[in-house]
Amino acid sequence: MRIRIIMATIKTLSRKQFFNTLATLIVGSFAILWWKVADRQNETESGSMVWRIKSSLTRGITFHEQFYLVVGGEKAKAFSTRCTHAGCRINKESNGLVICPCHGSKFDAYTGQPVQGPAANALRELSCRFDERSKEWIVKG
Ligand code: FES
Repeated sequence: MRIRIIMATIKTLSRKQFFNTLATLIVGSFAILWWKVADRQNETESGSMVWRIKSSLTRGITFHEQFYLVVGGEKAKAFSTRCTHAGCRINKESNGLVICPCHGSKFDAYTGQPVQGPAANALRELSCRFDERSKEWIVKG
């Protein structure tokens, strides 16, 4: 049904309107893609990886592949998502705990300390600060 409506709409457009609409859609798609990429720019700084995260998050946890960010008001911490047991990527949070999908280790999300094995060591904490000028969290590790 929707396709019929779209096709009927397209048939009513002049050639110029059609190409203008098509160009707008293409430019819009690239703008969205650029925004997504710019949101997670990676760079290196004296041998360390640096991630810039645009986030309006004021409280909570977000996962960013190599690390997760815990924001509580104006403070934030970042921890590696590499599990200290056998290196799996941690990608899940529940009730303030981050959980490894491989063997079920659980870590306190705010300290990185293990609360349930088999992992015995804490997650690696990364440096994290908020850049007022760019309004980005800058994580370095
Ligand atoms: Fe995470 Fe084993 S790799 S619990």
